[in-house]
Amino acid sequence: MSWVLDYSGRSVLVVGGSSGIGNGTAQAFRAQGAAVRVWGTRASAADYAGEAGSDLTGLAYTAVDVTDAAQVQAAGAAIEALDVLVLAQGTVLYQRREFSVEGFNQVVDVNLNSLMACVLALQPQLQASRAPGGGSVIVYSSTAAFHSTKGNPAYNASKAGAVGLVRTLGEAWARASKDGSRGPIRVNGIAPGLVDTKLTKVTTEHPQRLAGALQSIPMGRLGTPQDMAGVALFLASPLAGYITGQTIVVDGGLILA
Ligand SMILES: NC(=O)c1ccc[n+]([C@@H]2O[C@H](COP(=O)([O-])OP(=O)(O)OC[C@H]3O[C@@H](n4cnc5c(N)ncnc54)[C@H](OP(=O)(O)O)[C@@H]3O)[C@@H](O)[C@H]2O)c1
Repeated sequence: MSWVLDYSGRSVLVVGGSSGIGNGTAQAFRAQGAAVRVWGTRASAADYAGEAGSDLTGLAYTAVDVTDAAQVQAAGAAIEALDVLVLAQGTVLYQRREFSVEGFNQVVDVNLNSLMACVLALQPQLQASRAPGGGSVIVYSSTAAFHSTKGNPAYNASKAGAVGLVRTLGEAWARASKDGSRGPIRVNGIAPGLVDTKLTKVTTEHPQRLAGALQSIPMGRLGTPQDMAGVALFLASPLAGYITGQTIVVDGGLILA
C-alpha cells in the first residue's frame, strides 16, 4: 500500500507554506517525493532563516500577498502544472481589533476571501492534473469554525466560511466536464485544534493559558504541524479518493467535551 502516499512526480503548492502548519505540510509532501512550492509574505526564502517553524529547505519559495488578487493571479499563472493545492494561510488579531470594520475585513480577507482567489487562480492546472482521481485542494480552517471564539469574531466567521466553501466547491468540482477536457477536483478541509505555531504564541508562551489549554485537550498535548500534515497526505491520496466537501477535525479531542 505504500504507493498510495508516494507523491513522486506530483506538483504541490502550499499557500502559507513558509511557516507553521503549512510549512510542516509542505515538508511532508516533499518527504513523500513531491516537487513543492510555497508562498509566504516575506520578500525571499532567506528572510525566514533561523525562524522557528520555518524550514524552507528544498521548497521553491515565492512572495505573494494573498489579499492582493492580482498578485495571486500572476503567481498562479506562473505555475504550469499542479496536482495538490494546500491553503494554509491565516491570521488573527487580538485586543478586540477584530471588533472594528478594518480589523474584521483584514482577517476575513486573509482567512476566507483569499481562499477563493487562490482556488480560482489554480483551477485550470488542477483540472488538468493526471493524478489518480484528479486534482486535490485542502483548506486549513479551524475548530474555531464550530464554536464561538471569545474576542475574535472575524476568525470565527472566516473559519466557518471556509468550511462552507469546502462543501460547495467540493460539490461543484466533483465531476469531470462532459467533454473530458476538465478533470475533477476533490476539495476537503482540515480543522486543527491548538497547534504550537507563531499564530498561537499568545497562548503557548503564557504559562497559565497554556496549562488551561492543555487541561481542555483530552489527549493532553498540543497538536504539531506533523499531526496535521499526515491528514493532508491522506486527503490528497487515493486512500481518500471518494471523499469530497468534508472537513476533518484534528484536535486531540478538544471539541468533544
Ligand atoms: N496553530 C493553530 O493552533 C491553528 C489552529 C486552527 C487553525 N489554524 C490555521 O492553520 C493555518 C496555518 O496557521 P499556523 O498556525 O501555521 O500559523 P503561521 O505559522 O502564522 O502560518 C500562517 C501562514 O500564513 C501566511 N500568511 C499570513 N498572511 C498572509 C498573506 N496576507 N499573504 C500570504 N501569506 C500569508 C504566513 O506567511 P509568513 O510566514 O510570511 O507570515 C504563514 O505562512 C491558518 O489558516 C490557521 O488559521 C491554526
